[in-house]
Amino acid sequence: MTDDVTTKELDRRQFFLRIGTSSVAITGLAAWALAYKFLSPSVLYEPSPITNLGKPDRYPADSVTFDPEAAVYIVHDAQGLYALRAICTHLACVTTWKPELGVITCPCHGSQYRRDGSKITGPATGPLPWLEIWLSDEGDLMVDRSSPLAGKNFVKV
Ligand code: FES
Repeated sequence: MTDDVTTKELDRRQFFLRIGTSSVAITGLAAWALAYKFLSPSVLYEPSPITNLGKPDRYPADSVTFDPEAAVYIVHDAQGLYALRAICTHLACVTTWKPELGVITCPCHGSQYRRDGSKITGPATGPLPWLEIWLSDEGDLMVDRSSPLAGKNFVKV
């Protein structure tokens, strides 16, 4: 009888000891998780706005080429190569080059642009912006999508 009572008390002690140990362990893990999250830098990694568009000979004379990854048009006309942002100035839909019509159109509300980005018709608020474009040291065509240009910018080829 005495042995049973002792065994039960030990079991109860072990039970509470395990509960206590588990509580301390869970609290410690939660504290470490919070400390790790607090000490980790809150950085938003965004892709670079500078894109390599390859060699200029990819863009034949008198052509308009859409680059879906960069969302830009590369236009090759008599003055050289230039880049336009392909995002409509109305509500930011991605526009489409229609070679049969010779215009850039917006599928959302019907805005149309000339191949130099100037607006023809529709609710668009302005022309498609020109982007900075240049040749890298390796001869690749580079475009900076981060900021539109106030003027025009050609790469002679
Ligand atoms: S988003 Fe292009 S016309 Fe409205």
